[in-house]
Amino acid sequence: MNDQSRYVSEGLRYPKFQRHFSEFIGIGDNGHLWVEGCDVVDLAAAHGTPLYVISEGQLRHNYRRFRDAFASRHAESVEILFANKSNNALAVRHILNQEGAGGDAFGLQEMYLALLTGTDAKKLVLNGSNKEPAEIEMAVLNGVCINIDAMEELDLIGETAGRLKREVDVGIRAKLELKPLENRFGAELHGPGSLAVQARNHKWGMPFSQTVELVKRIEKMPHLHLVELSYHLSRMDNDADDFAVMAREMVQWAALIRDATGWSLRYLDLGGGWTFGRPEKCGPDGADDESTPPFEDYAEAVCGAVRDECEARGLALPGLKIEPGRSISGNCGIAIGSVGTLKEWPEYGKRWVNVDLSTNHIPAAAAHWYFHILSANKAEAAPEQIADIVGPLCTIDLLGEAREIPKLVRGDLIALIDTGAYSESRAANFNAQLRPATVLVSGAEAEVTTERERLSDVAGRFRAPARLLAESFAAQ
Ligand SMILES: Cc1ncc(COP(=O)(O)O)c(C=O)c1O
Repeated sequence: MNDQSRYVSEGLRYPKFQRHFSEFIGIGDNGHLWVEGCDVVDLAAAHGTPLYVISEGQLRHNYRRFRDAFASRHAESVEILFANKSNNALAVRHILNQEGAGGDAFGLQEMYLALLTGTDAKKLVLNGSNKEPAEIEMAVLNGVCINIDAMEELDLIGETAGRLKREVDVGIRAKLELKPLENRFGAELHGPGSLAVQARNHKWGMPFSQTVELVKRIEKMPHLHLVELSYHLSRMDNDADDFAVMAREMVQWAALIRDATGWSLRYLDLGGGWTFGRPEKCGPDGADDESTPPFEDYAEAVCGAVRDECEARGLALPGLKIEPGRSISGNCGIAIGSVGTLKEWPEYGKRWVNVDLSTNHIPAAAAHWYFHILSANKAEAAPEQIADIVGPLCTIDLLGEAREIPKLVRGDLIALIDTGAYSESRAANFNAQLRPATVLVSGAEAEVTTERERLSDVAGRFRAPARLLAESFAAQ
């Protein structure tokens, strides 16, 4: 198991496996893959494939570990706002609500889902680069803090708050310059270039010069209360010091805004972007191995940067909000597929294992994201071949390239590890494929938390205009 394994939370029942992939997922004594007390072979037989499986224990464990890493290192308040986009299933949100987590909602629908499960609106933030009037209204009516991403958003928020006679907490999404990251490189999530170049090129945030003007305008708006600065450094690398650079620049901004306007910072919202590693590798091109620092090192770097910079600038320590997505939900999930056609081309040393899982279901796999793949029913068997694991789409649909796997036959099961984040929430219907079901496992119990899509769900959204019907079916 990787270095994340040092943390144990009271009240959680940790299973014991002969080999662990995470605290709650591993290979059992029967040589099958298990999620908590459920044999994955039984889950596939009961619920069919392709199938997503989420471990409730792992979700609770990850949340608590992340929360404790920050709460024990920061002398002011700490709010963990789960990035709902990484897995916006209702069941996941219910579990996190029970744990006391807040949330980052991106857009009206995610905010609606979070409110529907009873997430404390005071622990939600609304992010987004082009917020709609209905979205702002939902946030204002429910008391959700809005991170302003553009000057014109302010007018809409001010008008909505005035009309509805509500007090609204707002933040500013900063567009940091991140000059110390000019020569730091990682995954190219926002186009080519260093971390600084990518961060400057993306669409989010307000440049510093406009921020001061924004603050002055907010201060004149009676219903609006500016409480935070926010920033999200995407998952481009796993060096905690790069996130410390971000935190430091945010504090520097807060001090400069104070000097220009007298405003005082209540919260720093540090966004998400942190990760986890494993010896089997995960992440962009498999960059996250066992050398990936654990949550505690990330918290140490970031909290230290905030503390030191606040001291240096004479600022009171703000409360922290952190918006982890992948680091909480990623290793909670696996995806299972059944093996179908097997093909080989010995002259070129090529082999293909076709499965019913696809890059529609695991979109990140199509963008060079590495997921460890094993056979769920032959999890202990020694690798005997190298093959590409491919889905049924008309694209190349490569889930894993040149993977070492045991001999497989039609009907065997394969599993991708770490698919709990950005898989179900980004799943697509290309080739009119149906999206999989999800089961939530808690101990020996497995319950369906997302129904498998039906052909009628896909076909039912299409409409044929009457004039086309008339022509298609006109008497010849
Ligand atoms: C504003 C914001 N916060 C948090 C996250 C979560 O990022 P991650 O899942 O990498 O932690 C994202 C991801 O896109 C984001 O845009």
